[in-house]
Amino acid sequence: MDILRDQSLRDLNTFGLPAVARWFVRASSSADLLESLDFARGNGLPVLPLGGGSNLVLAGDPPGLVLQVGLPGFDVADAGPQGVLVRVGAGEDWTGLVDRCLGLGLYGLENLALIPGTAGAAPIQNIGAYGVEVRNVLEGVEAVEIATGAVRTFDNGECAFGYRDSVFKGVLKDRFVVAAVTLRLSRLPVVSASYGALATELSRRGVAEPTPIDVAEAVRHLRRTKLPDPAVTGNAGSFFQNPVVAPGIAGALRSAHPGLPTFPSEDGRVKLAAAWLIEQCGFKGARRGAAGVHPSHALVLVNHGGATGRDILALADEIRSAVFGRFGVSLAIEPRIVG
Ligand code: FAD
Ligand code: EPU
Repeated sequence: MDILRDQSLRDLNTFGLPAVARWFVRASSSADLLESLDFARGNGLPVLPLGGGSNLVLAGDPPGLVLQVGLPGFDVADAGPQGVLVRVGAGEDWTGLVDRCLGLGLYGLENLALIPGTAGAAPIQNIGAYGVEVRNVLEGVEAVEIATGAVRTFDNGECAFGYRDSVFKGVLKDRFVVAAVTLRLSRLPVVSASYGALATELSRRGVAEPTPIDVAEAVRHLRRTKLPDPAVTGNAGSFFQNPVVAPGIAGALRSAHPGLPTFPSEDGRVKLAAAWLIEQCGFKGARRGAAGVHPSHALVLVNHGGATGRDILALADEIRSAVFGRFGVSLAIEPRIVG
């Protein structure tokens, strides 16, 4: 395991933003991970865990040690009638994992097809798409405490999952490195296909009784149609969370703006489509130098080539002010801002 100095992070974040890690290591085993944490502790360095860099805005050089988690692993154990527990190393590619499970007839991940990044990052913001969040299938998280190197297991409840939220973004932020996740999947092809856009796509395809493979194909198609490919245009997916508001506020906004798409949130509140709010403010396809808003999805900020994290954040500020000024709604940034 090599601990590198002054490692460029430009190719290690899907926005393609420039930044340099003063110290950088890729941990490919548990031993590497523990050794890296010892090194950081011994040198008084803060640790930034890194996966695929698909939910980051590098606005400056991260202080301390950037620790890219590359731990492999894929183990399946039977768990009751038709159930399986799949333990996955944190460094496994999420998209590859979904495809592998589908290929093995292990179901539950199909709605989460084609989400970039690593398995270890999936619980951090409780990744979600098309009606399923990772919390719906997550059994537990194995993590190593940065300050001590001690291994701790979190069950689903201890992860305190919410919409794009978990304990690892809250009180335990930067306290643990996820080493592995265990998912509870099913050998029975039970599908979740009621999410509006997914149901519409399946019906457009003439699929009345979808299989998990039908669901995964429809999700992949929807994602490819709506979202830019980071290999072509730098981005981090949705740049803002969809605001969740009290029903009274949503009702008032809908009366004033009848086109506003709203969705029920699991806590009885109402989710507003941030993309619509941004589009109404005229930002869809807007450009400020190399920073821009994607022309076919107003929630996705993009790097047209040569943007810095500061350029992206300046555009984000402009958008937040405009949306707040017009609708009185605050937008929260989804990706992690570093530096
Ligand atoms: P990184 O970007 O490397 O890190 C993200 C955060 O997790 C950071 O705070 C980092 O410190 C922390 N972290 C990473 N690995 C570990 C670890 N092993 N232990 C502790 N902390 C860690 N997200 C969704 O929820 N739904 C979507 O539909 C979706 N679509 C996307 C589409 C595109 C085109 C893109 C670019 C992104 C999309 N995202 C989506 C966001 C992103 O894919 C997820 O947040 C993903 O889980 C990030 O994984 P990563 O490995 O790239 O994490
Ligand atoms: N819309 C607009 N203008 C646009 C784009 C969309 O008005 O430019 C409207 C659409 O008409 C639709 C609504 O906004 O009614 C919602 O759009 P979409 O279905 O594309 O979903 P989203 O709310 O923008 C969320 C997640 C995505 C996830 C999809 C599918 C958040 C912040 N984003 O996007 O997650 O893939 O739903 O479930 O919750 C991510 O987190 O990075 C991400 C891509």
